[in-house]
Amino acid sequence: MAPDPTSAGLDGIVAAETAISNVDGMAGQLILRGIPLDRVAESLRFEDVVALLWRGLDDALSDGDTVRAELGSARSHAFDRLAPLLPAAAGLAPVEGLRLLLSALSDEEAVPHHLLAVAAMPVAVTALGRAAEGRKPLPPDATAGHAADFLQMLTGEPPGDDAVSALDTYLATVADHGLNASTFAARVIASTRAGVFSSVVGALCALKGPLHGGAPGPVLDMLDEIGDPAAIDGWLAARLASGERLMGFGHRVYQVRDPRADVLKAAVRRLSGGRLAFAEQVEARALAALARHKTKRSLQTNVEFYTALLLDAIGLPRTLFTPVFAIGRVAGWTAHILEQEKTGRIIRPRSRYIGPVPDLAA
Ligand code: ACO
Repeated sequence: MAPDPTSAGLDGIVAAETAISNVDGMAGQLILRGIPLDRVAESLRFEDVVALLWRGLDDALSDGDTVRAELGSARSHAFDRLAPLLPAAAGLAPVEGLRLLLSALSDEEAVPHHLLAVAAMPVAVTALGRAAEGRKPLPPDATAGHAADFLQMLTGEPPGDDAVSALDTYLATVADHGLNASTFAARVIASTRAGVFSSVVGALCALKGPLHGGAPGPVLDMLDEIGDPAAIDGWLAARLASGERLMGFGHRVYQVRDPRADVLKAAVRRLSGGRLAFAEQVEARALAALARHKTKRSLQTNVEFYTALLLDAIGLPRTLFTPVFAIGRVAGWTAHILEQEKTGRIIRPRSRYIGPVPDLAA
């Protein structure tokens, strides 16, 4: 069926050309520059994925080892810039504090802006996470990998290999995903030539909503509220009957299972402890309930369901789930910003006016 050009959600509208990633919603496939997600997650570190996404956009940062080294020193630069600003974020939720801190980065920064945007994320998120518990920020280790340094800056302890590997898989898995809402927001802002930091801040604002990157915290809330296998069906039926959405299910593009869910589920399985068995029961019952309640639409598990389980299993508080999503997704945002800047054309769609018209005869 041809897309409705006036659809409120822009379903099916092609708004940009990109060589960065593609989401095939019918086949349930995500590719990053031609490489399928399962191969990305199996064999690439987050830094390799960043280099892959920036390929052809920044020739100086075209391999993972160079990105790892440059990100390390850019994290140190970010710490010097952002740590003094922390008191301004006191009392804000971490995702709001992150919005505030990123806004302080200047268009005059001496470090390449896309590099600094990626580097600043774990520095800001860990400082905000520690501040929420009354603790001082810890400086980065410029020689560490991005995922390991995030965990070290957050806890002050050397992280375990399993946690580093799971977080690295997570960051690589969510690094880019076609023209999702936050990436589109970034491209719109970049198209006005407002610069990388403004575009990234706008993207974060879009990510924060519960229909996009704000979903994983509520996924855990749902598991907590259900609490017991015997309560699953009743809880789900009550929510659906009252018109509520089940967080972690449904997707605009995927008509089949989101491939990222399986990559993350496998990563959760490799971690000990956690609540995977109960979550799998809730998932199965939720899919059955959605199939009964929403017969016109295939609603499947999306990335956020297993994001919640993975980030919980490595010990992160749920207030950091959306900020940690931004640590991964900023890789894609910056690639799309650089690609959009190359096109040089402002994104400026039209609306169909349905308001009153002046009475010219009066
Ligand atoms: N639970 C219950 N019903 C749902 C869900 C859900 N999770 N998702 C969609 N529906 C229903 C809607 O209520 C609507 O029903 P109706 O036709 O009876 O009114 C129908 O499915 C179509 O809904 P739309 O809003 O048109 O679907 P859209 O493609 O625009 O939404 C979205 C996609 C926002 C992801 C949606 O599925 C949703 O809200 N899911 C829950 C939040 C979530 O998990 N977000 C994370 C997405 S992944 C990411 O952004 C990283």
